Amino acid sequence: METKDKNKCSTSEKEGGIWFTVSRRNFLTLAGWAMFLATLGAYVSQILGYKGFFYPKVLFEPSPRFAVGNPNAFPENSVTTLKARKIFVVHDGNSFKAISVVCQHLGCAVEFSKEKNIFECPCHGSKYYRNGVNFAGPAPRPLNHFEIVLDDAGKLVVDTSKIVPLETELIV
Ligand code: FES
Repeated sequence: METKDKNKCSTSEKEGGIWFTVSRRNFLTLAGWAMFLATLGAYVSQILGYKGFFYPKVLFEPSPRFAVGNPNAFPENSVTTLKARKIFVVHDGNSFKAISVVCQHLGCAVEFSKEKNIFECPCHGSKYYRNGVNFAGPAPRPLNHFEIVLDDAGKLVVDTSKIVPLETELIV
């Protein structure tokens, strides 16, 4: 009698841990349920989740029309780079222009050189006059000019979805 009791409990206690107390059938059942629930969870998170089935597959971009500030925020005879908006605001006398920073060769961002008073592209050396017209390098055409207007509050507003002729300027 004593020997029998010893044998009964020896397996689970000697091996230690719950894994040896669960039968193989129960273990497989639990594993099956775990896999089922994991798969179900993955599907539900795809359907209801942040970027799931019902989430629109579109890119959200900032509006192409935006205010850049009051005219007096731009010093006279200056070129101001608005990197986040990818434009230059050129202020000469009482005229304002909004010029794209995107090079017309392969799309690098051009930079304004104060010393030379021109726009230069660091990629392949295209050069543009202060009015955006190309004169050196592989760029095939002038920098794009965008519509710039004054809104009711007296702020300069640029619309990068509207490309205007080079000679267009806002007189303030
Ligand atoms: S991208 Fe500007 S010169 Fe090539």
